[in-house]
Amino acid sequence: MKLEDKPVTDRFLLHGPVTDGGSLMTPDRAALWWIALDRIADDDWETLEAILSEEERIRSERFHFDRDRQVYVAAHATCRGLLSYCLGGAPQSWRFSVGDHGKPELVCPPEGPRVRVNISHTRGLAAVALTLDHDIGVDVEWLQRSAETDKLAKRVFAARECRTLAAAPQARKLDTFLSFWTLKEAYVKAIGKGLSQPLDAFSFDLDTLRIHFEDGQADDPARWRFERYAPAPEHLMALAIRHPDPARLSIDAMAAPLDFLLAQGA
Ligand SMILES: CC(C)(COP(=O)(O)OP(=O)(O)OC[C@H]1O[C@@H](n2cnc3c(N)ncnc32)[C@H](O)[C@@H]1OP(=O)(O)O)[C@@H](O)C(=O)NCCC(=O)NCCS
Repeated sequence: MKLEDKPVTDRFLLHGPVTDGGSLMTPDRAALWWIALDRIADDDWETLEAILSEEERIRSERFHFDRDRQVYVAAHATCRGLLSYCLGGAPQSWRFSVGDHGKPELVCPPEGPRVRVNISHTRGLAAVALTLDHDIGVDVEWLQRSAETDKLAKRVFAARECRTLAAAPQARKLDTFLSFWTLKEAYVKAIGKGLSQPLDAFSFDLDTLRIHFEDGQADDPARWRFERYAPAPEHLMALAIRHPDPARLSIDAMAAPLDFLLAQGA
């Protein structure tokens, strides 16, 4: 089955944003929004920037290239928008703290559930994943990226992933490499370690989306759910969530509703 044809099982996000102080989220749900930059009109950027915090606005001004600044703005506006869509409240009100390896975490009141979000951005596309309590990570990559895939894989992938890549036809090399790469990045982002976690200490089977740990004690594969998506013709995306019963998780993945985001910044 092609990634684009994956059936969508539960579209709780399609019921619309939360109202009356409620929440769309439960610990058995995850929400994933992506935003392609070519959908955003020139006039919309100022409105999206108005969703950011002051600190994010200052950071966005520091990018040298417009394309990097724009994807940063789109990612962080989408993050704030998704939080408000699922949980209510003003998008500018969300505050973040940064963990040991740089993973931003939402600041939540101690008495409530812990809201977890993760952002990814690449050339032309940004994505944000959200759940309650569980570790979550998302990664998006641009398929046009020129990379010496076999050489890079030998340096960072596990042996079984290198074998799969070596056996892939030339026309599928980049797609196969980035399929592994997005899954591996989603995992290291979910556990919050980023690239301080060696990427050859675990590997993926692209058919089953199961993870295998070289050291059997390192982590429990049965606690992980992985998904792959093709959010745009030139992009690949992967999602990783740690959950006590991954089969119970319902994941709603969709293009971010731009009208909703623009209304937040208006
Ligand atoms: C930082 C890292 C966690 C992800 O980096 P990345 O894949 O370049 O970037 P992504 O766009 O997917 O993720 C960046 C976002 O992840 C979040 N993040 C930062 N550190 C994080 C961590 N330790 N864990 C989880 N998320 C983290 C941040 O929100 C960041 O966005 P922001 O700076 O706009 O707030 C890390 O794995 C890294 O440095 N990767 C290098 C990527 C690389 O070399 N790619 C080559 C591909 S061929």
